[in-house]
Amino acid sequence: MYRITLLPGDGIGPDITKATKTVLAATGVPIEWEEHIAGEVAIPEYGTPLPEPVLESIRRNKIALKGPLTTPVGGGFRSINVALRKEFDLYANVRPARTYKGIVSRYDNIDLVMIRENTEDLYAGVEHMVGEDAAESIKIITRKGSERICRFAFEYAVKNNRRKVTAVHKANIMKCTDGLFLSVAREVARDYPQIEFEDKIVDNMCMQLVQKPELYDVMVAPNLYGDIVSDLCAGLVGGLGVVPGANIGDNLAIFEPVHGSAPKYAGQDIANPTALLLSAVMMLRYLGETEAADKVENALAAVIREGKTVTPDLGGRAKGSEMASAIVDKMLKM
Ligand code: NAI
Repeated sequence: MYRITLLPGDGIGPDITKATKTVLAATGVPIEWEEHIAGEVAIPEYGTPLPEPVLESIRRNKIALKGPLTTPVGGGFRSINVALRKEFDLYANVRPARTYKGIVSRYDNIDLVMIRENTEDLYAGVEHMVGEDAAESIKIITRKGSERICRFAFEYAVKNNRRKVTAVHKANIMKCTDGLFLSVAREVARDYPQIEFEDKIVDNMCMQLVQKPELYDVMVAPNLYGDIVSDLCAGLVGGLGVVPGANIGDNLAIFEPVHGSAPKYAGQDIANPTALLLSAVMMLRYLGETEAADKVENALAAVIREGKTVTPDLGGRAKGSEMASAIVDKMLKM
């Protein structure tokens, strides 16, 4: 029996979580969910968006599936997502983006994975005002942080039969910080002669991805570029509703969709559960439940391909819960 912390989160989170639980229950993988509230919904009860029982539960179970959490822009509390990644030192953010037949996008053969460093860079949040009219933010890149993320990217490439790793940087301008990241990436690459290695300056990378995405495979980047370029990749395959993510540390992992809480769709059961479901598929693979993971992914792909029981963002009229039932039906027939 796997005991897994479940955080449905804010906005559309509870709807897509329910749909995902329905599908996972049908895999037969024995999971005991330990459900907790976090995010805006936790504030009235606990006075904080990240209550201690959530942290305790994740610490104990070492694995969590998480819906989106609302973060106010500008002022207000700091991002809980960033806080969780820091608390558990989840240094690798894995963001695959692949095309599924039936989802309208500009390309039909994309299979990219961004491995984003998750704990340092400008995301460390070391910033302050300098008087009233200037502000300063400090970009932190370390050898240790760069080494472990680059090694993670190459190990990922080896384990998943990938052919190439591209390091994304701006070392031509940020010679110290990105320069360090790039030189560590080159060093690590020498330990993996079977994997092709190249590097790209981030602006060129964006253009190349839009023009020739099929040339790329696994990418590895410092935090901020990884964040931005992975959303670009999401755009290449049909948008935020369909891309999953995982935050992985040395012995703890949190799986979550890339999208946010889309408050305007909250409580209407019309949000697309695909991104959370694919995050759960990544979780099953992490647990070694490959057969169940394949089954869910294939059933989901078939439902999307047929296009009859899909949510409005995919051009259908189904509720999220109806899409989940259609996926379960497909699984039963496989
Ligand atoms: P968002 O991802 O919540 O929504 C942007 C648009 O994408 C939505 O208006 C909707 O049209 C579409 N969308 C997203 N997910 C969808 C789904 N599952 N099904 C159908 N359509 C979907 O981004 P936004 O509006 O910038 O952020 C809303 C809140 O979410 C903010 O408080 C933000 O901080 C938070 N957020 C949380 C994240 C997390 O918990 N990992 C990640 C990104 C944003």
